[in-house]
This record gives sequence, C-alpha cells and structure tokens, in this order.
Amino acid sequence: MTLKTSKIETLRWIGDERGHLMVIDQTMLPLELIERKCLDVETVWEAIKQLRVRGAPAIGIAAAYGVVLGVQRAARGDEGAFFARLDDVTAYLATSRPTAVNLFWALERMKRHAADLRGKTPPTGILAALLAEARAIHEEDRAICHAIGRHGAELLKDHSGVLTHCNAGGLATSEYGTALSVLFTSQDQGKRHHVFVDETRPLLQGARLTAWELAQRGIEATLICDNMAGQVMREGKVQAVIVGADRIAANGDAANKIGTYSLAVLAAAHEIPFYVAAPSTSFDLKIDSGEQIPIEQRSSEEITHCFGQPMAPEGIGVYNPAFDVTPARLIKAIITERGLIEPVGRETIAAVVGMRSD
Ligand code: MRU
Repeated sequence: MTLKTSKIETLRWIGDERGHLMVIDQTMLPLELIERKCLDVETVWEAIKQLRVRGAPAIGIAAAYGVVLGVQRAARGDEGAFFARLDDVTAYLATSRPTAVNLFWALERMKRHAADLRGKTPPTGILAALLAEARAIHEEDRAICHAIGRHGAELLKDHSGVLTHCNAGGLATSEYGTALSVLFTSQDQGKRHHVFVDETRPLLQGARLTAWELAQRGIEATLICDNMAGQVMREGKVQAVIVGADRIAANGDAANKIGTYSLAVLAAAHEIPFYVAAPSTSFDLKIDSGEQIPIEQRSSEEITHCFGQPMAPEGIGVYNPAFDVTPARLIKAIITERGLIEPVGRETIAAVVGMRSD
C-alpha cells in the first residue's frame, strides 16, 4: 500500500487480536513510502530479515506483533497446543537477526506474559492479552524515545554540528527515534544544528533513511560518504557524534551499525564527545562485555552489488559484518530514557538500568 498521509508510523496494528500488522517497507525509501501487510509470522520474519523493518527497537515491536500473528490460529485449540505453538513461534522469530537484543527482550516479555495467564484464561483470552502486551511495548517505546530526546538535548549547544551514522530515527523505533530524537528535541527547544549524515555502507541507511527523516523535519543536513568523517571533523565542523545501539553489554561496550567503532576512534582523536543514545531495552546485562555480542554476518551481494548492479569482479572474497562494537572507554555518555550514564562503566550502568521496569 502506498501511503498518502504525512504521518509516518513505522508499524501499525490493524483491528483486534484477529487483525494484522502493517510495516513501512524501509527497503523502498526514499523513493517510495510503501506499507507491507503482514498476515502471518513468516511475513514478519522475512520483513525483519530483509530489513524492511529494522533498527533495534522497531525489530522488537515487530517481533511482539509477530508473536500475535503466529498464535492466532492456535488460540482456537486447547491450551497445550497453544503453548507449544507459542514456543515454536518465538524460537522462529529469534532466528531472524542475532544482534539487536530488543528482539530477544520482546520475545521473552511476550512469553512471560502468556505464561502468567496459563491455567487462568483460555487461549482466546491469552491471545487478546498478547495483543495488549505488544501494543504496550509499542506505546512504551514512544514515551522512551521522547525521554531520550529530552535528556540528550541538554548536551547539545546551539548551532553545533552533529554527526550521526546509520538510522536511529523514527523509522528505527515506534516514531521519534533515539539518536535523532535528541536532535528533534533540541530543534523543538529552538536550537539549530547542522547534521552530517554518514551514508552508511553497504545498505545506505544514512543516505536513504536518516537524510530522508531530517529533510521531513526541516533539519539542515549534509550527506557524506563514511570515509569523509575524519576530514569533516578535522575541519572543525563536528561538535558531537550521536549514534544508536543494538546491544550494550554490562560494561558499556556497545554494538551498532558497522562503521560506528571507526567513528568513535576518530572522535577521540579529535576530542569530540561521542554519545550513544539507547533505551534500557537495548542493554544486555547478562553479558559481561562486547566480546560476547553476536555480530550478524550478511550476504556478500550487499557489498559486491549496488541495487542489483555488480560493483566488483565476480568471485572476489567478501567480509560483511553488519555491526561492530565500540568499547565503553570511547563513549562519553549513554543517553537513556532514565537519564545519562556518565562515565560509562559497570557501576553507573547498573545504577541506571540495573532494575528493569517491565
Ligand atoms: O541493520 P540495521 O539497519 O537494523 O542497523 C540499525 C542500527 O545499527 C541502529 O543504529 C540501531 O539499531 C539503533 S536504532 C534506534
């Protein structure tokens, strides 16, 4: 479905618990703003895998709705079959992408919610409760993104240049974003910024999505190739770097889109503060350091081809990790919905996000 409205909603649930999910197909942007209808869990899995819906919080929300789609039919049967299906569906969705911890967090939360109702409510009632839980995850993310914006905006001075990487905007979340929420809030407060947008090879989330979102909101932006960041910093045009995260370990090491680590090293060399903006749902306190974060490896065609056209000789060897890990020591502060974590370390992280609210 082609959208005609100016309101952008990354994900929309239509109807009651027998309804379906609509997702903006981000692979089509910025040329076309199109929604895809997801009537079953397989379509949600494919949408996550193919990056039609992407960005850590949005992946978690999509997966929560995917659980609802996956158990719709089983809700007409008995409790044992319903819970067996729930296990299968959550295990299946967990195979879609490995790095963003929000996916696993959302699946666990959905399972826990169903388990709490076992023996008390028939499967049809549990299905309805699961939709309510998915909607709650979706709504909570809106509030989280706004709070991240408020905390982060305090860090930005008027007329400063800000560099960002990949897309940590509304498209990557329920609507407002994490790193971009900081910029949107700062602008709403009357400050002006010039944003340098890394194009973000190989899939160009910066050029296709972040540049598009900034243009929609009238924020001044300049698109650069990833390998230009050092020069732009050297020219004194960048006063802060803000990126999102897919998973943050207990010690503060943060995984984000490939290229983020190089930016952090460059920022340190130029004494520019490097900030990570992320919700508490992106922390994985069960893992000790970034060494344990699983890094997704994607297909070689993403590098050898550009929009279907070959860009490299056939048969060339390719390495395509989708994420890298920035060590905590390079991160000046992590901006969460619960406030700033600064300095970044085990104790400060435990104090701010150690207690989960869900
Ligand atoms: O591969 P993607 O496009 O899902 O990668 C997304 C990112 O790296 C984002 O920066 C991260 O998920 C944070 S989104 C608020």
